[in-house]
Amino acid sequence: MIQTLKWNIPAIAGFIAAFAALSSSFPASVSASISAKSWGKADGKAVSLYTLTNSKGLVAKITNFGGTVTSLLVPDKSGKLVDVVLGYDALKEYKANQGGTYFGALIGRYGNRIAKGHLVVDGKAYQLFINNKPNTLHGGKVGFNERVWTATPEQTPDGPSLTLTYLSPDGEENFPGNLTVKVVYTLLNTNGLKIDYTATTDKDTNINLTNHSYFNLDGAGTSTILDHKLTINADKYTPVDSTSIPLGKLAGVAGTPFDFRTAHTIGSRINETNEQLGFGKGYDHNWVLNSPVSGDVKKAVTVVGPKTGIVMEVLTDQPGVQFYSGNFLKGDIIGKKGLAYDHRAGLALETQHFPDSPNEPSYPTTLLKPGVTFHSTTIYHFPTP
Ligand code: GLA
Repeated sequence: MIQTLKWNIPAIAGFIAAFAALSSSFPASVSASISAKSWGKADGKAVSLYTLTNSKGLVAKITNFGGTVTSLLVPDKSGKLVDVVLGYDALKEYKANQGGTYFGALIGRYGNRIAKGHLVVDGKAYQLFINNKPNTLHGGKVGFNERVWTATPEQTPDGPSLTLTYLSPDGEENFPGNLTVKVVYTLLNTNGLKIDYTATTDKDTNINLTNHSYFNLDGAGTSTILDHKLTINADKYTPVDSTSIPLGKLAGVAGTPFDFRTAHTIGSRINETNEQLGFGKGYDHNWVLNSPVSGDVKKAVTVVGPKTGIVMEVLTDQPGVQFYSGNFLKGDIIGKKGLAYDHRAGLALETQHFPDSPNEPSYPTTLLKPGVTFHSTTIYHFPTP
């Protein structure tokens, strides 16, 4: 069943949008819309797939299962729409989370790792589930990526939006506090996918919310990301131990393969002999963004796909970004359109607080207290080629 919500446009414009999606060509201008279709059930609850189309013809598909971005169609240099995120065709594949990839999903309560699952809040110790030996990764056994969120689609002046809410009960995955999380995806008419996160709690607790989309700007499943050009506005990163837990200190990127202050192709230094690259099996580290942590959304990362010419800028108010070069992909996962995802077929840019912050007092705090509303914004922006 396809249900179209809140059309505010003449029928003729809807026809143009539908035709554009079918033909995968990039129209000069369409009217923004959002539609929904039933996509099955998870945990006994109905799951839908929402299609957001902005006024320029960009399309984002998002499901309330895990708040997952399943498709993101953006125009290449010739105006052809290209799907730039890795993912699956069907809900059952997202449920399986094969290979622990977290394709496109919202991550919580705590993005990335907590050392040995050891969390202390207000002097009380909580043992979290060890799902990435010897550590807790991306929220534990059942993270936000596997929860069914309550969804509200809406047209806004900025573009179509999908509001997702989830109440994570006190003790879920052994984290303290009832945590109410709201994530608003807006497909901006200025050609960006904006993600606004808010959260409140009734007990002190730690959170680190992010999105785990894997991008390939030359088209998901067509190539590796090794020839993508990457720039990260960071003088420092957080080196890790052999289990990918940060050592606590910050290290300068100068003179290392971690220096992306000027554009470098991802593949140019990834195979250098370097202990940190060895620990990550490639890039899988947190960069300390130069932008001050002031609540302002600033450009942190730029990526360019060489074949399509598609440019993606990541803007965020978060202090860090986990750049993960798809090192655990190995060609055995078959994604959308039956295409296999080879080693390094996609890259994730997870805007975040630093991994293991609850155990590292020198890092910006991830403690959320009752009466305070956590808010953060990240935009994946696609300047017109
Ligand atoms: C993050 C982690 C990686 C890996 C991926 C998902 O980027 O840092 O080590 O777990 O998620 O596969």
